[in-house]
Amino acid sequence: MSDVIEEARAALAAARFVSVLTGAGMSAESGIPTFRDAQTGLWARYDPMQLATEEGFRADPALVWRWYAWRRELVAGARPNAGHEAIAAAQMRFDHLRVLTQNVDGLHARAGSADVLELHGNILRTICLARCGYSERRPERLPAGVPPECPRCGAPLRPGVVWFGEMLDPDVLAAAHREATTCDVMLVVGTSGLVHPAAALPGAARRAGAKVITVNPEANELDALASVSIRGRAAEVLPRVLGPAA
Ligand code: APR
Repeated sequence: MSDVIEEARAALAAARFVSVLTGAGMSAESGIPTFRDAQTGLWARYDPMQLATEEGFRADPALVWRWYAWRRELVAGARPNAGHEAIAAAQMRFDHLRVLTQNVDGLHARAGSADVLELHGNILRTICLARCGYSERRPERLPAGVPPECPRCGAPLRPGVVWFGEMLDPDVLAAAHREATTCDVMLVVGTSGLVHPAAALPGAARRAGAKVITVNPEANELDALASVSIRGRAAEVLPRVLGPAA
């Protein structure tokens, strides 16, 4: 593995503008299961369409609310890992480094990354189902059993995440696209590269001339366009790729 680490370090040493695109694998070593791994135990009998779509929520709001309450607890009890910390520390090394994440756990910000673009929202944020504009970030005040009413308009509250079938916030997506197409290197960590539109960002970066580096213990869709593919776990690999020379 040390050859590919050296290649990645060399690409980064020549870079001024860096984008870091992360997915569920980034938080695996913080103990947060990927969406698919979370379909275990108590939740194995539900399919994602029941738990992470607006139709599923409307069909059984209490079920979906309980699932998110459980995931919020996991997130609240988790800590950023050495990979999140290496990314946050690396901000100072480049003219510009921006994190674009598909994760809703907020761990990049908690590790110290600034201006994180949260493509799929944040699980600690709660918004109004009717989109009246109400939004809050005090999950500890929310009841665990059923979704409360929006204090502004009376519609149910829902998690502030992007569900399957929903559009990403156009401003966030446009900003992510700008980062992707203006970076010298895009580091892609812990994503299967299957869920669009985030999965299209590495291709956009590559077409605009960036080098793409992937970090993932498994072969994945994005390896084909990578200049460097590192097979390994985020918390182990990122300190070696981004940290001071050994
Ligand atoms: N370090 C790096 N990568 C890892 C690690 C690790 N420790 N453990 C697992 N991985 C990799 C897996 O090999 C897999 O390729 O992380 C990837 C996780 O893939 P997905 O579960 O598909 O996660 P992601 O790509 O973020 O999914 C995108 O889909 O589930 C929805 O909205 C949800 O944001 C999510 C989106």
